Amino acid sequence: MLYDLKAKIIKNKKLTPSIYYLELKIPKLAGKLIPGQFLHVRLLGTTDPLLRRPLSVNRIVNKNNVGIVYKVVGKGTYLLKEMAVGETVDVLGPLGNGFDLSKIENNKGPVIFVAGGMGIAPFVFLAKYLRVKKRKVIAFVGMDTKKELVVIDELKKLGCKVKVSTDDGSRGFKGYVSDMLEKYLAKPQTRIPKPYIYACGPKPMLKALRDVAASYNLKGQVSLDEMMGCGIGACLGCVVKTRNFTEQGAKEVKEIVYKRICKDGPVFDINEIIWED
Ligand SMILES: Cc1cc2nc3c(=O)[nH]c(=O)nc-3n(C[C@H](O)[C@H](O)[C@H](O)COP(=O)(O)OP(=O)(O)OC[C@H]3O[C@@H](n4cnc5c(N)ncnc54)[C@H](O)[C@@H]3O)c2cc1C
Ligand code: FES
Repeated sequence: MLYDLKAKIIKNKKLTPSIYYLELKIPKLAGKLIPGQFLHVRLLGTTDPLLRRPLSVNRIVNKNNVGIVYKVVGKGTYLLKEMAVGETVDVLGPLGNGFDLSKIENNKGPVIFVAGGMGIAPFVFLAKYLRVKKRKVIAFVGMDTKKELVVIDELKKLGCKVKVSTDDGSRGFKGYVSDMLEKYLAKPQTRIPKPYIYACGPKPMLKALRDVAASYNLKGQVSLDEMMGCGIGACLGCVVKTRNFTEQGAKEVKEIVYKRICKDGPVFDINEIIWED
């Protein structure tokens, strides 16, 4: 069931000069969300921006409150950061398919998170779930610079081993997170048992990750970031080209299918997306 609700701001706290933690009171939704889903947030009392903004569920705080971590990049997020505790936004959700957790039930290897930039947002919720399932998690987190590193302390508290890369080399591995993962996988001791990947981040990162996963024959899922219109599958403003295979694990492509990131995703099998277009 889809809810359109007014949500009171409980916290709207600066984490870095451009990244904020928003906590919303949405009791009707808090218990109905799964990791990898998102909320479509509309600012009230303005028509600019007119459209909602998609934001991932970062964490379920308690039975009433949901946490979001967002970066200020344009008008919508700028106005959001200006909002005070006690004010209200409109929230549509739950939206999106979320991560498919059944895929790791029979795979006893470690779980790998690969997060690029604000792609870090959904992983606290997922880490909490995997902690309950007692799964070993290694989180590979890539940011432009150390000043933007957020959420990694929460991941550590949830038992994840965290490996950081920064584009400018100000913290951890200098370079792309996909290259850091490649180096890790190249070590003989990390090849067995095979890890399963959950990833979220910008498209070039996910495409590079697909290549790394293919070289090590790893399975996984990627959550796509795309500008959205309706967020509910109606406007076709977020379509991505995908391939369907003849059967599970097969190499032969049966058909090309256009899917809506908001409704059929945002999470897809790592081999499903046709990045080349
Ligand atoms: C499913 C989903 C979940 C998301 N979760 C989060 C999250 O948890 N935290 C977070 O900080 N951001 C998240 N985003 C991205 C977020 O929705 C955008 O940053 C936001 O909509 C920008 O709104 P704005 O009005 O501030 O910027 P706009 O004025 O709309 O845009 C400013 C600039 O950002 C670019 N931009 C806008 N939206 C996107 C996008 N989706 N992908 C790439 N570039 C974009 C525009 O091209 C423009 O250059 C998510 C996006 C999706 C699709
Ligand atoms: S945003 Fe309208 S169909 Fe996806």
